[in-house]
Amino acid sequence: MATDTKTTGDAAPAAKGTTLLEARGVTMRFGGLTAVNNVDLTVSSGEIVGLIGPNGAGKTTFFNCLTGLYIPTEGQVTYKGTVLPPKPFKVTAAGIARTFQNIRLFSNMTVLENVLVGRHTRTKEGLWSAILRGPGFHRAEAVSREKAMELLDFVGLADKAEHLSRNLPYGEQRKLEIARALASEPGLLLLDEPTAGMNPQETRATEELVFAIRDRGIAVLVIEHDMRFIFNLCDRVSVLVQGQKLVEGTSQVVQSDERVIAAYLGTPFEGEPGEAEAAEVEAAEAGAKEEGK
Ligand SMILES: Nc1ncnc2c1ncn2[C@@H]1O[C@H](COP(=O)(O)OP(=O)(O)O)[C@@H](O)[C@H]1O
Ligand SMILES: [Mg+2]
Repeated sequence: MATDTKTTGDAAPAAKGTTLLEARGVTMRFGGLTAVNNVDLTVSSGEIVGLIGPNGAGKTTFFNCLTGLYIPTEGQVTYKGTVLPPKPFKVTAAGIARTFQNIRLFSNMTVLENVLVGRHTRTKEGLWSAILRGPGFHRAEAVSREKAMELLDFVGLADKAEHLSRNLPYGEQRKLEIARALASEPGLLLLDEPTAGMNPQETRATEELVFAIRDRGIAVLVIEHDMRFIFNLCDRVSVLVQGQKLVEGTSQVVQSDERVIAAYLGTPFEGEPGEAEAAEVEAAEAGAKEEGK
């Protein structure tokens, strides 16, 4: 039985500026709740596009509509001009890979094995070949391992290839998820809050990693709450509020838009409480103690 590695897919980066992803009028309803409401979004090759908005704005739901986890109630999503099939593995095969807001790794597998799992859409090891473990199988496996190691090196985890993924610190688990997503050789990578739980140095490193991914010819669509990260990184930023697209433009345009500022100020408890609030609470507690004496 023939054992080979598929050379189709997105191995060759698309010419810069061609439309990759095109979402048109995407709406997702859960019963009476409209989580995503008539959203249009385009991502072209060579771009890094940001998707921001307060908690509950519908960002993750929109990602789920793009990647076949949800079938949108209305609207259409195309990739390179073809309507995407509503099955996650088919979307991956078409060239879109993603990471998850809540990390999804195989915790009892090694770091390397997790990346190898991500490669399976790009290998075509026949069943009998895998069972009989003939020379073709071993050749394909060697190629897969080599590519997986190259990706681990790329994200800075090569020295941890044999560690169990559950033993990695949080920030490194996020990097591993990115390596696993890249293993499917995507043309477009979707990242859902890639720096959540990271310290400032890890966040800076992730910024560099996303630029490096773009330089490999992979377009990126990224959801993130860290505004500095988003505005440093993105060519274009789209703002979702209550399921609808409020504004879209360059980082500069979006940063200074009053509606965006208002949308964020409308949800004051999203970030860390500020120093002023902390001081107020402390003062109130001290006062209460005094009274109780
Ligand atoms: N599977 C689901 N069933 C019902 N409601 C959902 C589901 N997924 C998300 N929602 C709701 O849709 C809204 C948008 O959620 P989400 O897309 O997770 O927002 P974000 O990622 O912007 O924080 C929220 O009100 C959320 O409770
Ligand atoms: Mg989310």
